[in-house]
Amino acid sequence: PQKSFYYDDLEVIRAKGTQLHQKPTDYNNLAFGHVFSDHFVNVDWTVDDGWTKPKIEPLRELSIHPGAKVLHYAAELFEGLKAYRGVDGRIRMFRPDMNMERMRRTAARASLPDFDAEELIKIMVEMLRVDKEWVPNSDTASYYIRPTLIGTDPTLGVATSLAAKLFVIGGPVGPYYATGFKPVSLLADSRFVRAFPGGVGAYKMGCNYAPTIAINKNAAREHGCQQIMWLYGGDEEVTEVGTMNIFVLWKNEQGDLELVTPPLDLGLILPGVTRQSLLDLSREWNEVKVTEKSFTMGEVRKALKEGRLCQMFGAGTAAVVSPVGEIVHHHNGKFERLKIPTMDYKPNYMQKLYDAITDIHYGRAVKEGWTVE
Ligand code: COI
Repeated sequence: PQKSFYYDDLEVIRAKGTQLHQKPTDYNNLAFGHVFSDHFVNVDWTVDDGWTKPKIEPLRELSIHPGAKVLHYAAELFEGLKAYRGVDGRIRMFRPDMNMERMRRTAARASLPDFDAEELIKIMVEMLRVDKEWVPNSDTASYYIRPTLIGTDPTLGVATSLAAKLFVIGGPVGPYYATGFKPVSLLADSRFVRAFPGGVGAYKMGCNYAPTIAINKNAAREHGCQQIMWLYGGDEEVTEVGTMNIFVLWKNEQGDLELVTPPLDLGLILPGVTRQSLLDLSREWNEVKVTEKSFTMGEVRKALKEGRLCQMFGAGTAAVVSPVGEIVHHHNGKFERLKIPTMDYKPNYMQKLYDAITDIHYGRAVKEGWTVE
């Protein structure tokens, strides 16, 4: 069986006539993930033959059997990365190698087939070449890429899928902050958990996201919160925020300014590409102490009370950084509103990180090995 699909076997079928769609005219008012470009990558796998030849073809509906494992047991995983049109007009993907490695790790955990990461990167580059006019000519908008892998075997046993499909769709997305950063309010309630040791929180599987939707909806309706701050365990370790990793900048008990994010080793944290990039930049600058370690709501409350808490923000591909302005903490049976001074703290370290990473996205700055043209 074919161990991977190969760029050299790629067949490109171009969209024509009614398969060509109208591009948005205003990238500044584009809701996330609503618009898709004209083509997608499509490749199938079976246990006997391995991978078929990859295709880039006009975007269309898929046809799968209602017994397909993905529809019953969530045999699914995905990735999210972006391509940016730089100030020099060139299109760059940001660290796709990191997404591809995470995708392969997730596939192994999901008992879905492996593939060669380099080959999929080359095929995504070709997709961007075919749909290049869909990559916004803007230094605030971008093109979001969604590689996806599903188990299509039409049998209801809870077992390895003997057939699978990998596809990549994508489309333009607007700036997360058309009018500047908007701090979010988070519900922190340890009665809800996103991930746990031995679980799959460290893998980008669809099954991690579906159960969060109702909780998020209730947080909005009952508390006016935009996102959930995911806590874990009896000591309420802070793990993630919404679909993003979390960072806190505080003066630690020793009086050092310290940037902290929870560590990957317990399997509770999604190994985010933006997370890693902000750590890499901060370590390189060496202006603040940089630490990957667990921290608790108790420590957050103590730092806040002692005036040591400076900034708190989410980090992810979709928004890059997302400032936290308030935490609604379910504490001793009551809901307490804690104000977080992220937007008022000077110097604004979150903004510095945001500027540095977006400079690399849009080709205003170069970081060797971080972009693929
Ligand atoms: C992110 O980049 O924050 C995501 O993970 C977004 C995605 C789940 C919609």
